[in-house]
Parts: sequence; C-alpha cells; structure tokens
Amino acid sequence: MNAVKIGLIGLGTVGAGTLEILQRNSRDIAGRAGRDIRVTRAAVQNLAKQRMVDTTGIELTDDPMQVVNDPDIDIVVELIGGDGIAREVVLRAIENGKHVVTANKALIALHGNHIFEKAQEKGLMVAFEAAVAGGIPIIKSLREGLSANRIQWLAGIINGTCNYILTRMEQDGLDFSEVLKEAQSLGYAEADPTFDIEGIDAAHKLTILASIAFGIPLQFDKVYVEGITGVTIDDIRYAGELGFRIKHLGIARRNQDGIELRVHPALIPEQRLIANVDGVMNAALVMADAVGPTLYYGAGAGAEPTGSAVVADIVDVVRALTSDPNNRVPHLAFQPGSLAALPIMHIGQVETAFYLRMSVINRPGVLAAITRIFGDSEISIATILQKGHDAKGKEVTIIMLTQVTPGNYMSNAVEQIEKLDAVTSKITAIRLENLA
Ligand code: NDP
Ligand code: HSE
Repeated sequence: MNAVKIGLIGLGTVGAGTLEILQRNSRDIAGRAGRDIRVTRAAVQNLAKQRMVDTTGIELTDDPMQVVNDPDIDIVVELIGGDGIAREVVLRAIENGKHVVTANKALIALHGNHIFEKAQEKGLMVAFEAAVAGGIPIIKSLREGLSANRIQWLAGIINGTCNYILTRMEQDGLDFSEVLKEAQSLGYAEADPTFDIEGIDAAHKLTILASIAFGIPLQFDKVYVEGITGVTIDDIRYAGELGFRIKHLGIARRNQDGIELRVHPALIPEQRLIANVDGVMNAALVMADAVGPTLYYGAGAGAEPTGSAVVADIVDVVRALTSDPNNRVPHLAFQPGSLAALPIMHIGQVETAFYLRMSVINRPGVLAAITRIFGDSEISIATILQKGHDAKGKEVTIIMLTQVTPGNYMSNAVEQIEKLDAVTSKITAIRLENLA
C-alpha cells in the first residue's frame, strides 16, 4: 500500500519534534498505523532558517496554501499556532477534503464549533490531542476511556509554563520574570507568553476539556480567567506554612446551577498527588461516577512530548482513512446532535474557600473590624496568622483562610475591608481547593 502523505505546516518546536519522532520511530509507527507515513511537504515562515531536524526529501515552502492545495497530500498537520493563518489553513484543508491534525488550542477553543461542523459535513477528522496537556493522552482518555461515565468535575495543571514558573519560584526563590525567560528559551511558552501567564492558554485548554467531559459546545468566552502574575514568593511561602502549595488550575465542575468553568491560581493541600506535580509537568484529575478519581500525568509542553501526541493523532487518522465517517469517535465525544445547552455559572456564584493576604497597621481593633465585615458577609474564618513587626503602629501582614463561600460574598467583603483606614494594601485573594 502507498505511504500516507503528510503536509506539515510549521517546523518550530512542535513541528520539529513531530518530524523527529516520525523519522526515528518510523517502523513502529508504520506497524501500528498499517501504512508507511511520510512527510513530503512542509511550510515555514522563514526558508533561510537553520532547521534542527533533517528535512531531506521534504519540499519546503513559505506558502502554507501550496501544501494544503496539493492533491497528493492526505493529511494536513497544522503547527503554526494562533487563529489567523492557521484557521485559514485548517478550513481550506477541510474544503479540499483533507483530514487535519493540530496542536492549536486557541484555534479549537475559539473556532472549533465551526471547524468541526465543516469537517462533519465532509466526513473528515480534525484531531487535536496535542492541544491539551502536551504529551498526556487526556483527550483520548476523556473521549474514549471514560465514555461509560458521567463526569462530575475535573481539575488540571494544564499550562506547563505557569507550573514551571511557580515551581522555580518556590524551590529556587527565583524572580518571576527571570523564570519566564527560561521557560521561553526551553520552548514551553506561547509565541505571546502573556497567553501563558495571564491564564488564556489554560482557558483555551479548559474550554476543550469541559466540552468533551460534559457534552457542551466550546465556550471560551464564558471561562473565568486569572493568571499567575499576582502570586508572590511570599504567598507561596505562607501557603507552605499552612500545608498548601499554590498551583495554577483549570477547573470544570458540573453542579445543580450549571457548569463552573474557571482558571486561576489555587492553594491545594500539599498531600494531594496533583499538588506535587512540578516544573513543566501537567496533570489532570478527573472525577467520574463509575470509575471514581483518575489522574493523568506527563510533560505538558516541549518538542517531543507534544510531538508524541501529534503523531498519535496522525496514526489514528491513518487507521480511520478507510473507515465509515459515521462510525468514528465524534470530535467532542458526544454526537453533534447530543450536545447539551447547560448554563455556565458566573464566578460570583462559584463557592470555594479563600486564602487572603493584606497589609494592615498593627493597632487595637483592626482585626475586630476586619472580622466584623466577614461576619456581616456570612463568611467564616478558618485561620488567621499575623506576620511581621509586633510593635504598635507598624505595618504587619495578615494571612487568613476562610471557609467555603460564594465568590460574590468574598468580593463584597474584600471591597469593604480595603476601605478601612488601617488596611494599607490591596488584598490578595487566592481560591483554595481541597480536590477531595
Ligand atoms: P513555534 O513558534 O516554535 O513554531 C511555529 C512554526 O510555524 C515555525 O516553524 C514558523 O516558521 C511557522 N510559521 C509561522 N507562521 C507561518 C506562516 N505564516 N507560514 C508558514 N509557516 C509559519 O511554535 P510551537 O511549535 O511552539 O507551537 C506550534 C503550535 O503548537 C501552537 O499552536 C502551540 O500553541 C501548540 N503547542 C505548543 C507546545 C509547545 O510546547 N511549544 C505544546 C502544545 C501545543 P519559522 O520556523 O520559519 O519561523
Ligand atoms: N505554552 C503551553 C504551556 C504549551 O506552557 O503549557 C503547551 O500547550
């Protein structure tokens, strides 16, 4: 049988990792797919750039549409990123009757509903395992491995750059911007790293996971998003003293009022396995009714871990080339006609415990005034610590843990406390998740 011909759009971190794996493991991969797989064409932006991977026998171009319009190409692998040219490439590939593999979470989260509709009309596959949690086969696990279950919630460390930064800050006391540069040089960060540190990349991924877990359309615009730029080394240390670690989490939960979709830093009890996922590693904890909790762990970014997921998708597509399109695994796990219109909850309705840090003047009555506001707001305090100078009239840091309360109760209380004369800083509020 003829080799399946791949058109690779992008030969950067992930493109090079993908090509390297296809070359190095070609025999095993062909054995699994049932056909040889050959990259015959590739598109890059800068043809003069030195490549870290062997491109012998691959026709290179700087025009992705040449690859997509080539009738000899069977599968288009989009590894450019973003939702500009990448979107045009994917839609044109579908129009031309080609299956697509992509690692592009922004594209799927923002335009996936449309892309899948077009692919469905043509009986084509759009595979995107690499879009979430790099090398971890979390899409396949949720979509196929857990298909017997009603999924209740999932919580994931799904941005390698954020996890790398928080880990290096905690373990090596390094400064935020210094570690971000490291993550960029290691190829973990997005082209625009604010997508990582402001939580947007994790929100793209959570959008995809939630859709597959709960059978809802992709709804990126409804995700509550907070990044890690407000987390300080002091917060990490105080959390540690209280028995917690701070991780950047994506959380999707089904409850009686709808679906929670939120991305933010959170304190997690240090004894949880997921609290000990460090560096660029990612993990997703999924709670489902039949199987109970399952945890998926692996490298969340980088050339070969992500390439591993891309190649697995290519193998899946090759195996499906001759199968009946109506009998394939649906893109979003549920058949298109079975997607549910469940409401997405506003973050103000979402109930969690909180960690709070504030600077106050050390004088009688200050704590009483703060706790009175919490009492009036129906918020129970679990722990209070005072850090810093004991002398009267000096600034001290107050750390508090509260019990579970709705987000809007907390934001009202914070607003009132910040107005007290004795409170000299903005209040840092970080959610606390038990993940039990
Ligand atoms: P890179 O920036 O390393 O690579 C992008 C590639 O696309 C480069 O080869 C670039 O060409 C090429 N390119 C950009 N614009 C064009 C264009 N207009 N025409 C042709 N080629 C173009 O990105 P990554 O490999 O890091 O990321 C690729 C995708 O994978 C993104 O969607 C990203 O979110 C996703 N992803 C990345 C992970 C990672 O660890 N890096 C992990 C999981 C997903 P040139 O080389 O000439 O500049
Ligand atoms: N920038 C992303 C991250 C790449 O750091 O997780 C993997 O999707």
